[in-house]
Amino acid sequence: MNIYAAATVALILLLGQAAGDVSHLAEEGVEDAEVSRSRRSINDVLVGDHKPYDEKQAREQLQRSLNKLTEGEGPHYKILKVYSATRQVVSGTLTRIDADLLDSSATPHRCVVEIWAQPWLTQHEVIFKCRNQPVVHARHSRAAEWAEKKSHKKHNHHSLDKVEHLFHKFQVRFGRRYVSTAERQMRLRIFRQNLKTIEELNANEMGSAKYGITEFADMTSTEYKERTGLWQRDEAKATGGSPAVVPAYSGELPKEFDWRSKNAVTGVKNQGQCGSCWAFSVTGNIEGLYALKYGELKEFSEQELLDCDTTDSACNGGLMDNAYKAIKDIGGLEYEAEYPYEAKKKQCHFNKTMSHVQVKDFVDLPKGNETAMQEWLVSNGPISIGINANAMQFYRGGVSHPWKALCSKKNLDHGVLVVGYGVSDYPNYHKTLPYWIVKNSWGPRWGEQGYYRVYRGDNTCGVSEMATSAVLA
Ligand SMILES: *[C@@H]1O[C@H](CO)[C@@H](O)[C@H](O)[C@H]1NC(C)=O
Ligand SMILES: *[C@@H]1O[C@H](CO)[C@@H](O)[C@H](O)[C@H]1NC(C)=O
Repeated sequence: MNIYAAATVALILLLGQAAGDVSHLAEEGVEDAEVSRSRRSINDVLVGDHKPYDEKQAREQLQRSLNKLTEGEGPHYKILKVYSATRQVVSGTLTRIDADLLDSSATPHRCVVEIWAQPWLTQHEVIFKCRNQPVVHARHSRAAEWAEKKSHKKHNHHSLDKVEHLFHKFQVRFGRRYVSTAERQMRLRIFRQNLKTIEELNANEMGSAKYGITEFADMTSTEYKERTGLWQRDEAKATGGSPAVVPAYSGELPKEFDWRSKNAVTGVKNQGQCGSCWAFSVTGNIEGLYALKYGELKEFSEQELLDCDTTDSACNGGLMDNAYKAIKDIGGLEYEAEYPYEAKKKQCHFNKTMSHVQVKDFVDLPKGNETAMQEWLVSNGPISIGINANAMQFYRGGVSHPWKALCSKKNLDHGVLVVGYGVSDYPNYHKTLPYWIVKNSWGPRWGEQGYYRVYRGDNTCGVSEMATSAVLA
């Protein structure tokens, strides 16, 4: 026992005798001692004793810990059932909870979770001892726990004030003006609702992603969907593409790979208030293929597709499959500079003499095989994909691994571009997070300088459901 621990045990002994209640002290810090004194409960414990602990409170405490770990680097568990719990005051408070937990792949484990709360430390230590699993040590700050408790104590108008404050900051940051007070009130209500969604995403995050206020924070999900624009593929029909030939990769795949560092990816573009993601996904793919083939990085025109691709529907959505065929039929793509983006459908003014790249076909990568995607990517270039954009509305960075129920692989509604992959290691948490690097078309202010990192390996948000590429002529 170190000197601090010894000193604090002495302190707790002292306070414990005076208050007869140290369990709350451990959670809320010595500052709250006055409050704790009046709160004798079933959970009062004597120093050194090993006392049964109310299961409901144990469950709440465990939930707070799990939320906190989820905000950080994990591990990620959900509570299935709490069997029993005990509390012991040794140096700080040690809560031992016997519970069934679900891990990130939804596998149940019977675990004993030990939560050490030491009021003189800013972090709580959490130890997971699950049957047939290595012991996992994790730490999280106790700050949120405090904040949460404090906000519970506050009256409603306080939290309204807080939402109002956040909303005001949001308006300033994103230059949002509303035409009337009524509209502002409506937007504030949506914003408030979105704060709850953000909380839910953070609480259920299995990767390292953070969700928060973005430029889409005052939009309903219907309005947000207008910024995506991928149509559902008719699964009963052939796509019109050929099956991709995935190269038999000799040797091991690189652990990390990024076409951005090989000058095959143009700057992040912005589709604006227009459901034209499909066009950006396709130009991104062709820009990559073109760079690999000709050694020159050029930007190609989305607007040409908005104006001249008659199968797709410009700002009302489209499919990459259709766009490849359209480029072949139109006779190629002009450069971005020659046919600049206007975020709305105009008259087609394609000029064949300015067509700089031709497409002869497109390929479909095997569905649900992320290894095949890696191999194809490394050998051929960036890949167009369809993705469920549910977790992207409030994405602020990190490796996004949302709970499956929040991001089904069936609802692909956004077209984007996979430009690479990598792995994040968290040795202290016995955790590694493999990810895809995804180029989005919402400008460089969104996400990680315009990019999204999404978990790789379990078809998160349908990342490998609709992977395609053009074949240049
Ligand atoms: C097409 O582009 C060429 C080369 O810039 C130009 O000479 C020609 O006038 C253009 N044709 C039309 C119909 O605009
Ligand atoms: C996935 O693709 C790889 C590479 O083409 C192949 O070796 C493997 O058998 C595929 N896996 C499945 C489950 O189809």
